[in-house]
Amino acid sequence: MRETAPVFHDEQSGSWHVFRYDDVQQVLSDHARFSSRMGGGDPSETGQLFASSLITTDPPRHRQLRSLVTQAFTPKAVDALAPRISRLTDELLARIASLGTADLIQELAYPLPVIVISELMGVPADDRNRFKHWSDVIVSQTRSGAINEDHHATNVEMTEYFLDLIELRRSRPGTDLISNLLSAEIDGQKLNDVEMLGFCSLLLVAGNETTTNLIGNAVLCFTEVPGTIERILKEPSLLPQAIEEVLRFRSPVQSMYRVAVADTTLSDVQIPAGAPLVAWIGSANRDERQFQRPARFDIDREQIRHLAFGHGIHFCLGAPLARLEARIALEAVLSGLPGLTLAPGSRLERMDSTIVYGLRTLPAS
Ligand code: HEM
Repeated sequence: MRETAPVFHDEQSGSWHVFRYDDVQQVLSDHARFSSRMGGGDPSETGQLFASSLITTDPPRHRQLRSLVTQAFTPKAVDALAPRISRLTDELLARIASLGTADLIQELAYPLPVIVISELMGVPADDRNRFKHWSDVIVSQTRSGAINEDHHATNVEMTEYFLDLIELRRSRPGTDLISNLLSAEIDGQKLNDVEMLGFCSLLLVAGNETTTNLIGNAVLCFTEVPGTIERILKEPSLLPQAIEEVLRFRSPVQSMYRVAVADTTLSDVQIPAGAPLVAWIGSANRDERQFQRPARFDIDREQIRHLAFGHGIHFCLGAPLARLEARIALEAVLSGLPGLTLAPGSRLERMDSTIVYGLRTLPAS
């Protein structure tokens, strides 16, 4: 598609699909031309939870909302979490080692990010199986408004859960992120419940699945390409760039949505005002105009300017946290499970989603 139809209009869904690196970068970052506001559908059904979240607002509101949480996610603030992340990883890995063959998604890649963010937000980590179920349903939900009973039930359940939590923190504030957000003000105004719901659902659900998939995709890439694990073990400073290459090669978030603000063009294709666009990050990250031999997983690649965390004002807030969690988890897996291999004969099943890319299970020993 990058060659023959870089901007493709799907008449059935009405969406415009964007595949080339330069175009995807423009769509993600030019917020004056491409809005992040949610389009279509009944907001009470599809988008109540995310309707007023960072990811679905444009400036100036976006800037105001983002300023409330940037401090909690700076590289310095996130580095302070490293000892806790390491302890958690060691505990999870000890259990894996005792099992012999274990599903690395179930036993490590999923619980680690969800426990870390739950602790940061002051939410019981024991509820993590519910968050997992919700995020699975959400990533299978389309932006166009096509929802089924499962989506509806999930939206209702999440809304009730978070509203209870918000009420609890209002009456008994702690030192967690939710309590901080409840006391924060923008121009003398506190956040309303819909905005609080946006933060809770975005941080607790959206960031976890993606980090889980980054860790799982990394294990897959490292075991697939012979010699990779040995090289990283010999030269641990290679790990951060190997993680960047995983983000490029198997991007955990494959696509993001925007709406054209006015009539515009991309790669000489005319797009009308109001058109819904799908920016294909996964395709951009394999664009041969940007990367040499893009279909090859190559940890020696120089300057991996991938778009896996987006670009511009919506650049992923959780990127430093995701990178740190992935580094600690992978360091521990590679050194703690010597001779790591995927269980022979295991069928690697991908998640059923066009938005996220990852494996359902990853049996390894
Ligand atoms: C935004 C990917 C982990 C929180 C984004 C965007 C992408 C992305 C592509 C841009 C959305 C857009 O342009 O519309 C990823 C990937 C992750 C990851 C690949 C893991 C490997 C996390 C984590 C958190 C998080 C761990 C939270 C703790 C957010 C938030 C935004 C965002 C709040 C919205 C930022 C804004 O609109 O200003 N992420 N993410 N993400 N991410 Fe992540």
